[in-house]
Amino acid sequence: MEKLALFGGPKTIEKTKEELFHWPIVTEEDIQAVTEVLRAGGMSGTEITKKFEAEYAAWNGVKYALGTCNGTAALAAAFWACGVGAGDEVICPSITYWASCASVLQLGGTVNFADIDPFTLCIDPKDIEHRIGPRTKAILMVNYGGVPADYDAILPIARKHGLKVIEDNSHAHGAMYKGKMCGALGDIAGASMMSGKSFAVGEAGMITTDDRVLYERCVAYGHYERTGAPSNYNPVDAQVTQDDLVPFRGLPIGAVKHRMNQTCSAMGRVQLKYYPERIAEIDRAMTYFSDAIDRLPGLCVVRYPKGSGITNGGWYASHCHYDASRLDGVSVERFTEALRAEGVSCHPGCNAPLHLHNYFHRLDFFRQGRPTALAFGQRDVRQGPGSLPVSEAIAGKLISIPWFKHFDIPEIDRYIEAFRKVTSQIGALH
Ligand SMILES: Cc1ncc(COP(=O)(O)O)c(C=O)c1O
Repeated sequence: MEKLALFGGPKTIEKTKEELFHWPIVTEEDIQAVTEVLRAGGMSGTEITKKFEAEYAAWNGVKYALGTCNGTAALAAAFWACGVGAGDEVICPSITYWASCASVLQLGGTVNFADIDPFTLCIDPKDIEHRIGPRTKAILMVNYGGVPADYDAILPIARKHGLKVIEDNSHAHGAMYKGKMCGALGDIAGASMMSGKSFAVGEAGMITTDDRVLYERCVAYGHYERTGAPSNYNPVDAQVTQDDLVPFRGLPIGAVKHRMNQTCSAMGRVQLKYYPERIAEIDRAMTYFSDAIDRLPGLCVVRYPKGSGITNGGWYASHCHYDASRLDGVSVERFTEALRAEGVSCHPGCNAPLHLHNYFHRLDFFRQGRPTALAFGQRDVRQGPGSLPVSEAIAGKLISIPWFKHFDIPEIDRYIEAFRKVTSQIGALH
């Protein structure tokens, strides 16, 4: 076999075929839809967004969808809608992007971080129940890296204890869980649609729910012109009928503007038309690649077995487990260095564990002279190093994998070859 590129041998992938990775796929249809919004000066309107919401809800299999300016906003509204307030607790996996749970502190609550399942990288259902206390309001679950969390285990725990389940579906638009689409399985879901995601329309987000009350509360939180208040600009839709919200019509309860820019919703309507077929192609490509990678020693792509009825959707931010004990003890950093030299764009690890971040330990957001995590009578659920062993060690056992957008076998084979080349000469990496 050829010498590793890291040591001066030939590079397996001399030139990246950009089209293989380019995302989102933007055609004349997207450009025309966005241009129409710009020409009409309709960026701050809501009529296109409402059409997008209706179409997204029908596709996702929920009664209500509410567009937001980003995924962070969608999740912040969902927490407030679920009743999270001062002194309350939310259980959230430690391995995720900060926006999954940071807004809990702005509501005066605190986050009780749970460990992750070492295989799926999603919240470990076995690490939830003992964390539930009298002030726990919700479980925030993340379908991390496109892989659905264990709904079958999480939902019954939540029902037993009267907790809300909030799905962070930012990584898994279109992922299926036993016949239902993620984003439609918990009480409410929030998802990012920023341009790096698998459903990508720019800075945008989406709330999905079957619960009319939660929907109305999200509307009231950040969509002041949709609460039935008169507006010169947007058509009035008397969306908010809940008694405790009615007196506040016309002002957003969250003091935020969550409206989606209609250039995004116009693009979203076009993207949605083609999304199912595009992610089906991604799934074919990623499955082909993953099947080959799983045959190599010490590597295993994060996904459920075929036939489980659980899919990775658009395969956003997919990972592969790296077992150094089967790869001559070579570190994941060194392994990815060798892969990059072969022309594979990949990196070790995943998001850093949130439970160790100062934000959740020391931030005094309300300037009360004490950490917000404790300031409203919360139990001290802050956790230091060593408390969540799987989350703390996972970075050394994972690599990101290429995200193929097309089922282009000759091209994908070159990436498989690069992995094969590095694993077969692993000893040389010492
Ligand atoms: C898991 C997760 N949750 C929430 C967000 C926040 O979404 P946004 O960036 O659209 O605000 C992101 C991504 O950015 C994310 O990856």
